[in-house]
Amino acid sequence: MDVIAFREAWPTLRGTSLPLEPDSWLLHIPNGHPLQTEIPAETLCRWIQQEIQESETLFVLRTRSLVAEWLPEKPACAYQELLEIQQDNIRGCVWKTMADPIAIQQQLLGNSQLETIAMAHQAVLQSPHLPLKLQELRIPKPWGYEGWYTGVEQRGVNSFIDEQGSTELPYALNLFPESLLAHQEPPLILLKTLNPVPEIILGDLYLELHQEKWEVYIVTAIDETAWPDGVGQVRAGLHPELLKTYQQQHGDDWWSAYRKDFRRAIQNYETLRRKLDERLDQERSQRGYGLNQALSTEEMKELLSTIPEHLQQEETKLRLAAEAYVGSYPVRVGDVVSFPTWQMHSLQHGVRVIEFQTPHYERMIVMFGQKALTQDHWNTEEALAGMKPEVYQPPQPELIWQQDGVRCERVVDFPDFDAFRICVPSGQRVRLEGKGNYQLLMGVEGYGQLLVGGESCGTVRHEEGWMIPAVADDCWLESRGTGDLICLQAIPKSS
Ligand SMILES: [Fe+2]
Repeated sequence: MDVIAFREAWPTLRGTSLPLEPDSWLLHIPNGHPLQTEIPAETLCRWIQQEIQESETLFVLRTRSLVAEWLPEKPACAYQELLEIQQDNIRGCVWKTMADPIAIQQQLLGNSQLETIAMAHQAVLQSPHLPLKLQELRIPKPWGYEGWYTGVEQRGVNSFIDEQGSTELPYALNLFPESLLAHQEPPLILLKTLNPVPEIILGDLYLELHQEKWEVYIVTAIDETAWPDGVGQVRAGLHPELLKTYQQQHGDDWWSAYRKDFRRAIQNYETLRRKLDERLDQERSQRGYGLNQALSTEEMKELLSTIPEHLQQEETKLRLAAEAYVGSYPVRVGDVVSFPTWQMHSLQHGVRVIEFQTPHYERMIVMFGQKALTQDHWNTEEALAGMKPEVYQPPQPELIWQQDGVRCERVVDFPDFDAFRICVPSGQRVRLEGKGNYQLLMGVEGYGQLLVGGESCGTVRHEEGWMIPAVADDCWLESRGTGDLICLQAIPKSS
């Protein structure tokens, strides 16, 4: 259907609308009508805006469908969309249950506001140009949990959230796609946090490396029970002093000697690790836990306490002997650490980070102080063969601009997107500019107010994430806390 056909069909369609209050109506687009599925909401709104008077409000209800690509059987999922159209404004919300038009009319009678319906369906109220808040979704891991912000997978689907309710990303993004995403296609840039528990070993991630994936961590919190002075550590690269010793003893051949001894130390540890994991698996079975089930820290501590003292001591001795070959790097809140390919690394207990990653899921495990749940073997040989034989030096962020104390540095330069660290002193503000693309925003430290067209539309605090629509114009972030506001901004690259 085009705009000409719409104009011809409009008087009849309008005649079927249900009255609400003076100057407001509810129009239900029946199933099978060309306006039901063919026409995007933004186009439909523009057409209807040409037909209504300044004082009028038209609500439009229609049933739509999307393919859930993130599920193995890729089912078509029906959902409902309600648009609120005025000459100078459009808003909308979507939900996954099917409501009768008469029921919607009843809900709107006497209170013809979209808020009423959004609240009744616990759905986010969306304006095409206003930022949407991301709701964190926690995915348990053996070392703590991952906090997802933009994940759409079988394991979990993220949502936007507001006072009315929450709406899963794929449905919400389908409402005003032109305004939200412009020329980009979902999924959104993957934004998540890693939150290891503060206990040593339990909260230490795999010592691993990647062949293709670049990993970037921005530190959001350091647990003070683990690191009382607020300076945490990540393990990465070779151990600087040990490297010197090997260079003195073996000259140019130092790396093959270092690697050989490192490999032997890991093998010694792995032999014991396997024995312990078998014991722990038996213990798991007796307690009715799944063999690969992620357990809480308390359950894990309890399980580990069943290992006899002499074996625990042996475990510590062999693990430390292997870890002696790995370097450590100090980190504070706001720091950026990135790991190029073939760089060995392990995030440590109590160091919480935001992670940006390229969409590769490969990893090689060098070693691990617990049973690996996602694979049944380590990749020590391959990892050591390709590893960068060097002490870890984090790449320095690139200063993009600096003005009146506000700094913007690029911390990620991936093929698909850039990410920036923005630092705003208290009382200062920064314009959030996506250059026609959507933006993801995440608070690291401090407190900020989001303003669009001079109006407050949300706050940015520690680990609070937002999506800013591609069409958002005049969007500002003002630092209102006592200290500097530090936040991250990720923007897709125009293809
Ligand atoms: Fe990694």
